[in-house]
Amino acid sequence: MKRFLPFAVAAVCALPAFSQNAGVLQADSVKQQISKHIYGHFAEHLGRCVYDGFYVGEKNTTIPHVNGVRKDVIDALKKLKVPNLRWPGGCFADTYHWKDGIGPKESRPSIVNTWWGGVTEDNSFGTHDFLNMCQLLGAEPYLAGNIGSGTVQELIDWVQYVNFNGKSPMSDLRKQNGQDKPWNVKFWGVGNEAWGCGGNMRPEYYADLYRKYATFMTGWGDAQVFRIASGANGDDYNWTETLMKQIPLNMVNGVALHHYSVINWGKKGSATNFDDSMYFKTMQQAIFMDSLVARHSRIMDKYDPRKRVALVVDEWGGWYDVEPGTNPGFLYQQNTMRDAMIAGVTLNIFNNHSDRVRMANLAQTINVLQAVILTEKEKMLLTPTYHVMEMYNVHQDAKLLPLKIQSAAYEWKGQKLPAVSGSASKDSTGITHMSLVNIHPTQAQDITIDVQGGNYKNITGRVLASKSLQDYNSFDNPNKIKPAVFRDAVLRNGKLQVKLPPFSVVVLEMK
Ligand code: AHR
Repeated sequence: MKRFLPFAVAAVCALPAFSQNAGVLQADSVKQQISKHIYGHFAEHLGRCVYDGFYVGEKNTTIPHVNGVRKDVIDALKKLKVPNLRWPGGCFADTYHWKDGIGPKESRPSIVNTWWGGVTEDNSFGTHDFLNMCQLLGAEPYLAGNIGSGTVQELIDWVQYVNFNGKSPMSDLRKQNGQDKPWNVKFWGVGNEAWGCGGNMRPEYYADLYRKYATFMTGWGDAQVFRIASGANGDDYNWTETLMKQIPLNMVNGVALHHYSVINWGKKGSATNFDDSMYFKTMQQAIFMDSLVARHSRIMDKYDPRKRVALVVDEWGGWYDVEPGTNPGFLYQQNTMRDAMIAGVTLNIFNNHSDRVRMANLAQTINVLQAVILTEKEKMLLTPTYHVMEMYNVHQDAKLLPLKIQSAAYEWKGQKLPAVSGSASKDSTGITHMSLVNIHPTQAQDITIDVQGGNYKNITGRVLASKSLQDYNSFDNPNKIKPAVFRDAVLRNGKLQVKLPPFSVVVLEMK
């Protein structure tokens, strides 16, 4: 919600602006696994994300669906290989009472969504609907518990309801509602943005509350619950420090972090109609993620040198003004090549910090903020962000390879950002993938990468690029931006030479 805008100082390269870029890939030095959960998504009861996005209901719709979930959405998300999906919020989570969303739909009570547009919801999409949908998608559910307006009993009842295989009041209730076997949900958020919409708590108070909730959440099934503490707002390092100091390591599996690429919370600007200055500032915010995860990780290292606790960036993405004429509380925005740049840069940062960043969730999946899918009645389109997530899914669960890039500068009014960023990994079949992003709005970038210890015979690639940074996929022209074959990469005498078009994302495959 409202945040201070941190002044982002990006690590700027030493090279002069006119020079070429250079890099080194240590192809024979495999590091830790890049957890597939870095590529997670987020579905909140917000605007048209759940209702109208994922879920069109089982009755009164001509849109093809499976148990009320759009078929076209299921097919598109399967191709992304969504590893986990966070639900039901966000801010909504701390107002949500899960028992209102089970049992016969016609007798469920309604809820007023006070955070997002004040709309009344009928609770027709509840726990069974979400967990069964996750099974259809092949995604692991990540449930965000209500600690802002709920109780310990309510949350542990939820754990028992979805995870307990024995006989108990909650497992009996689940069976009565048609689900015999438990779903074994592993990922649990203990509140959301406890410093803000989750209760405006101080970190000391939240840490104690967390300990109380976490104590009672275990022991209800085969799944070892993975408890994620509500984390810092951007550069609030004291939040992470306090949590790490006050919560014993055996009580927490993940500490969250939220950071949105926003120019100015009071004046976010249009999603599609932005100028050079707005573009630079958005990129500055996206690249700021690098120092955020590095500094939060350093604090975590002090208390947890063996890196048992994951840094979970469970909300990230670009945030702009809503599309003209739409409900301001619904956060519906278009998605341009600028968003593809945010996605490419951010995912490279996560890959490169995957020793500590082991889970993340783009906000949000459909029709809200930096969505991968937009829907309009029976129509659906895939955004440039979708294509980046799809191109990058080759990194899921692959082993990180060190890739160091010395980048030329993208300069704007005396301020500089590195134009080129990248990350690389080796998958279980031995194939190396390298993702490269050039955020420069006007200049192509030539990069020469010294490939050490690799003996590749074959190189192929895909590129996401477009004529204008402001380009987007619309319902009239849904395939304007899509990945194409990339031919500007050559491997000769251990040197990889690549020419990256302006504002482009390239993923190379080397065998
Ligand atoms: O993603 C939209 C909102 O942003 C979430 O509900 C909240 O957690 C954050 O402030």
